[in-house]
Amino acid sequence: MIINTEIDKKGNQYPSKIVSCKKDIDNFSFTTENGVILQVTVIRDSILRFRYATDSHFETDFSYAIDENASTGFNKLKIDENDDFYIITTAKLICHIKKIDLKVKIYDVLDNSIIFEDELGFHWEENYDAGGDIVKMSNVAQEGESFYGMGDKTANTNMRGRRFENWVTDSYAFERSTDPIYKTIPFYIGLHHKKSYGIFFDNTFRSFFDFAHERRHVTSFWAQGGEMNYYFIYGPKMNDVISSYSDLTGTPELPPLWTLGYHQCKWSYYPESKVREITTKFRDLRIPCDAIYLDIDYMEDFKCFTWNKKHFPNPKKMVKELMDEGFKTIVIIDPGIKIDMDYDVFKEGLEKDYFCKRADGPYMKGKVWPGDCYFPDFTNPEVRTWWSDLFKDLVENIGVKGVWNDMNEPAVMEVPNKTFPKDVRHNYDGNYCSHRKAHNVYGMQMARATYHGVKKYAHPKRPFVITRAAFSGTQRYSSTWTGDNKATWEHLWIANIQAQRMAMSGFSFAGSDIGGFEGQPDGELYARWIQLGAFHPFFRTHSSGDHGDQEPWTFGEEITDIVRKFIELRYELLPYLYTAFWNYLNEGTPILKSLVLYDQEDTQTHHRNDEFIFGDKIMVCPIIEPNAKGRRMYIPRGKWVNFWTDEIVEGGKETWVDADINTIPIFVKQGAIIPKYPVQQYVGEKKIKEVTLDVYYKKGNFSLRNFSLVGKSNTLNIQQHKIGKFITSYETFKIVLHGLPFKILKIYIDDEQFLFEDVKPNGDNTLIIPKEFTNLNIIGE
Ligand code: GLC
Repeated sequence: MIINTEIDKKGNQYPSKIVSCKKDIDNFSFTTENGVILQVTVIRDSILRFRYATDSHFETDFSYAIDENASTGFNKLKIDENDDFYIITTAKLICHIKKIDLKVKIYDVLDNSIIFEDELGFHWEENYDAGGDIVKMSNVAQEGESFYGMGDKTANTNMRGRRFENWVTDSYAFERSTDPIYKTIPFYIGLHHKKSYGIFFDNTFRSFFDFAHERRHVTSFWAQGGEMNYYFIYGPKMNDVISSYSDLTGTPELPPLWTLGYHQCKWSYYPESKVREITTKFRDLRIPCDAIYLDIDYMEDFKCFTWNKKHFPNPKKMVKELMDEGFKTIVIIDPGIKIDMDYDVFKEGLEKDYFCKRADGPYMKGKVWPGDCYFPDFTNPEVRTWWSDLFKDLVENIGVKGVWNDMNEPAVMEVPNKTFPKDVRHNYDGNYCSHRKAHNVYGMQMARATYHGVKKYAHPKRPFVITRAAFSGTQRYSSTWTGDNKATWEHLWIANIQAQRMAMSGFSFAGSDIGGFEGQPDGELYARWIQLGAFHPFFRTHSSGDHGDQEPWTFGEEITDIVRKFIELRYELLPYLYTAFWNYLNEGTPILKSLVLYDQEDTQTHHRNDEFIFGDKIMVCPIIEPNAKGRRMYIPRGKWVNFWTDEIVEGGKETWVDADINTIPIFVKQGAIIPKYPVQQYVGEKKIKEVTLDVYYKKGNFSLRNFSLVGKSNTLNIQQHKIGKFITSYETFKIVLHGLPFKILKIYIDDEQFLFEDVKPNGDNTLIIPKEFTNLNIIGE
């Protein structure tokens, strides 16, 4: 734990005995003799909020993380007391608050099992230097407890035994041991005795989490200021914990489908002829691609919202012509605004007093790409509106389709702490504060302002934003990537972990710089990375300018073919991925699921890192070592079908799976129906005439959204339940039957009999049928 502050040697202080309890609908306030107040709010039957004040009063209640549309409401709420405790009971939980020392214990209402329990509980140290308290919480690490979540941490998915820090940091060429890096997501999930809960510590100061690292049976979290303010979220299913966390902190709107296609990026493609050379090559080589990025060199002297007219003489024309070829142009915008009285954005920001200032009045001056810069205070709502409006020309006039926010930790060059000093002042939506409090949300508020700008000027099209820095809740405004990684095999491992971890931390729309940002991969590493990236919600190759080329064709024909094959597979799976996205934004279901999320009752899954479920029916396991011809992997319980061979495997065990450089292990859950589009060079290239349904036969009843499947030993029945009014362009479904245990004799479509010969195109188990069917009956011999 943090050592005592130097000046004030009081050390840790603790709440004393409760002297009063007040109830106000869903709020309970407990005050102790020494002036501590604990406020417990019942947000939902499964979510309790705990807020502690130390001097008998609270600060203003304000959060950037919590979504204003978060749901509230409970079915049951009652408070009792006995000699020792106050007892709050909801339909899901029982919470004890100990009268003698304010300690908390939470039980499952169904079986009275302990879920969460204070060890020292809440305690604090006064912070004479900065004012306020260092607020701390320690809890019992239960027997066999595992810990997950925490955003972009590079460690094993299960974090037991580790300690982490939260302070968003520009981390060029980070390592597996680097902590913290770019994001702060102070949310973790605990799992013990098959039940799980989550803790979201809604505090933006520099914070720390210790998962039984310092003491084997204790977990703790603390922050260098602000309030002890956390949400306890009960599952008991991990998926429910994540859904509830996503409900609290929000999900994005449905992104345009093209954003789920493949993106190509480099620092930097310029001049215009270079951009066109790249885009033309994609089309010539028939490698699908939807987005092309312009990094900082498109600007004049790295001044945001300007164009280098020598390299890009007519951006509007270029953007339009690229669009005609299916390429959406995405441009980078950083927070540092060059100090230059001839530069409009700078002059206006200065006149309007929109830049951050130091404690004694001077502006916060720092070096970034353009040299000395000032930085807008994005925590000021007026500054955000101004910033949003700066996108008018880029988006409405020039026609760029997305904006990439970088360096928004905020990153400052040539200074030891890589960011603003602590004394810098912020508006914080009227809750004026220093950088100690605003640092972790600075990038988030920039992404928020950018999102509103792109949305306003792209209307009626939906916006696309990508950010490097983030705090909990940033997923409402933006997608993200994992920052400046390296072209190494270890980083391929890290990329896999980070995408899974971000997804279970409520931020599914994430991916890595494929191939690595720093350094140049060889063909094998690049191919293996594309094979993984094709299953990450955000799918982009990006690399620094200094280390050679990194395009799908850079590594020779064999690699190009493999890369094309996997990008094509991604385009085929777009309707499947879009459905997973839909589930994510409506239900908070992560798009990627680590195996522990898939089957938390199977303890074998608790320490798995590599395998994950893409959506809810496809299991993927990347190859993360050179020269591999396959690998050992864990197949979770149940029956799975090998995607490449249709071979059926029984899960619940480790097994060897062949995967030479052309493939990676992919398995589909038996009983799944996977919708597929034809390959397109970009989204919208083709009018989709037919959607393929890959049907993985299984005995029993199953359903995938609006299809349901009933398999018996000699019949298979597929029903379509139509919902929604959107009229799709396709006319037919191509149904590919995998693993059918019988030979087809007759087919009934909505009770009309057809001969197999009338509906099968190739003599295999493939049927083409009109999209309007509601009932398809396949009868075997
Ligand atoms: C940062 C970004 C990187 C970008 C570079 C130049 O290093 O993380 O993606 O290419 O800046 O803008």
